[in-house]
Amino acid sequence: MQKAVVDAVLQYGTSVSASRMLSGEIPLHLELEKAIASFIGADDALVYTSGHATNVSTIASIVGPPDLILHDELSHNSIVQGCLLSGAVRQPFSHNDWQEVKDHLIKLRPKHRRVLIIVEGAYSMDGDIPDLRRFVELKKQHQAMLMIDEAHSIGTIGKTGRGVCEYTEVDPQEVDFLMGTLSKSLASCGGYIAAGKEAIELLKYTSDSFIFSAGITPANAAAALEAVRLLDKDSSYVKRLQDQSNLFLKQCFDKRLNTGLSKDTPIIPIQIGNSEQALALGSYLYEKKINVCPIVYPAVPDDAACLRFFITADHTDEQIFETVQCIAEGMKVLAVGKEYGMCMSC
Ligand SMILES: Cc1ncc(COP(=O)(O)O)c(C=O)c1O
Repeated sequence: MQKAVVDAVLQYGTSVSASRMLSGEIPLHLELEKAIASFIGADDALVYTSGHATNVSTIASIVGPPDLILHDELSHNSIVQGCLLSGAVRQPFSHNDWQEVKDHLIKLRPKHRRVLIIVEGAYSMDGDIPDLRRFVELKKQHQAMLMIDEAHSIGTIGKTGRGVCEYTEVDPQEVDFLMGTLSKSLASCGGYIAAGKEAIELLKYTSDSFIFSAGITPANAAAALEAVRLLDKDSSYVKRLQDQSNLFLKQCFDKRLNTGLSKDTPIIPIQIGNSEQALALGSYLYEKKINVCPIVYPAVPDDAACLRFFITADHTDEQIFETVQCIAEGMKVLAVGKEYGMCMSC
């Protein structure tokens, strides 16, 4: 990976210095897009310099004021900003509640030119996965478009890390827009949209963040390309990540720690139920050299405060056993979680 990055910098320099529409396109950009599309099973892909800009600009390009967007209430900020910029009518729905989406579609579909449903492949706070088949059924029944943000699902879920379509056995061709970031499993910085050829062609000429922003750097393009190739060639990284995530979750379960909705993803939040206590437990663990981010009010309601763990393929079994043991001990020492009925004696 590092060699590919160094080679790219030696060949193309540190910046492409311009929009790809002008002189900023290098062959690596096209190779990367081809590799992403082929990895995912889409016809084509387009790469942007940031994942956030990818969502904002794509959503604002494909819908406008006569249209309706239905998005999960836990959607990432970049999705909400894209919705606001588009000028479309925006209707959030309760987390993962496809039945509510159905009700909205029955009531609102006839009033709008286009409808875009947006879900995430894995949710970054709760570590849960939507029932994608239901959303695909609904989009077909109501002639809507479906967009999935795979920031947390690409490279992590599905047998070979191809994301939520692989996990739910949905044909990726049934999804209109598959968005992802290059900054998580793909070890780089930037974002992509994978979609049909015509949709990608449209975005190339209408998407402001693509047209009016320099192309991604040679180093970032090379890093992401190498990461996609590695994932494509060898799914053992994904298997290891999934094994370690399951081990962590099982340990938490055995110690009766409340991991909320988390299932089959490397995002495992431990619900503490109070911001002050989440911060105290975070500091306790930091002293023990365990680095975890407390998620506290106002990012979440106070009673949803948690410690959110991200498991990686590099975490060892010993680290996982020790961490879960330390969490349980810390909860006991600090009397955390008592009034929430969590295990105090493990
Ligand atoms: C769900 C989701 N979408 C989009 C983004 C934006 O991606 P990037 O950080 O690459 O700009 C993030 C970043 O954390 C995210 O979690």
